[in-house]
Amino acid sequence: MSFSCRVAGYGHSLPERILTNEELSELVDTSDDWIVERTGIRSRHIAGDADSSSSLGAAAAMNALRVANIDPSEIDLVIAATCTPDGMFPSTASRIQHQIGAECGAFDINAACNGFITAFSSAAQFIHARTANKVLVVGTEVLSRIVDWSDRGTCILFGDGAGAVVLEAGSDDGPGKVFPPFLGSDGGAGNLLYAWGPCASPSEGITEDAKIIMDGPAVFKYAVGAMADAVESALKNADKSPSDITICVPHQANERIIRALMERLGLPMEKAFTNVQSYGNTSSASIPIALSEANSDGRIKPGDLVLFVAFGGGLNWGAVLTEWG
Ligand code: UT7
Repeated sequence: MSFSCRVAGYGHSLPERILTNEELSELVDTSDDWIVERTGIRSRHIAGDADSSSSLGAAAAMNALRVANIDPSEIDLVIAATCTPDGMFPSTASRIQHQIGAECGAFDINAACNGFITAFSSAAQFIHARTANKVLVVGTEVLSRIVDWSDRGTCILFGDGAGAVVLEAGSDDGPGKVFPPFLGSDGGAGNLLYAWGPCASPSEGITEDAKIIMDGPAVFKYAVGAMADAVESALKNADKSPSDITICVPHQANERIIRALMERLGLPMEKAFTNVQSYGNTSSASIPIALSEANSDGRIKPGDLVLFVAFGGGLNWGAVLTEWG
């Protein structure tokens, strides 16, 4: 079984300010060598005062609409994946819908770093159910606002940015397919990676000042196994094998995690697209930014089997395969 739909457009947007490892080593006890060796990250973008998840998301959305040659008025639904929304409400998706001039429904999804896959999978199901023809899926984050800048175990990892795709219904025999996704969650292990918000029960932790708290080594170990299992399930759903995958566009958390995942899948590292070097971990924005860059670099062609796979806070993970149209 598969859903007939294609990615008609892709785009991304990054805040101007670039923060290098050298600059970070003036903030906390770290070094460029340590960060590059343990993560592959060399720099990340940091939101300016005028940037928000909605403004970056709207800019990425406009770029995706331009590539798709689609007017905002043609969009039937906006889904925004973010764990750093502009506020509790209105949703970041509604703000993006307004900023781009679309006239349609809009809602947010928070599945942390697995947000884009969850949003993309939801969009495909709306299209499959024929309740939408063209869905704008945005992954957008300003993680710098919830990073603990005194914690060297986390502040070196994260960055800000947004990516977007336009997913469009196709014909049954036409190009482009999305195969049934696999989504997983283990809320019982949620304490390995979290950021409390203003609505948390006071007895559960920080209430006013949400900051990312993570047990890095435990998350690393969990991530590799869960993502490998997710890919196996997604391949089964699509009746495909690892060797059918043309390119893997994984969540960009750490180059070592991507390398370990590719090894587990028995695939060469050349089949993975990485840009974690330049952007760090941008959570739900990382896959759509990578997808946008992979396309601009000519890495994806019609007919390719493209794998998205991610892991993050929740804990939450997922994988979905799409045949490029
Ligand atoms: O989006 C999904 C969510 N997040 C992730 O996927 C992240 C998963 N985890 C990781 O990527 C890695 O665990 C980290 C990059 C966070 C850490 O790398 P690691 O190889 O697991 O290092 P570690 O935490 O085991 O720390 C090793 C040593 C420790 O020192 P001691 O105890 O051996 O003396 C740390 O204190 O490195 C130290 N350390 C640092 N040193 C320099 C930790 N952070 C830093 C740092 N600079 N930034």
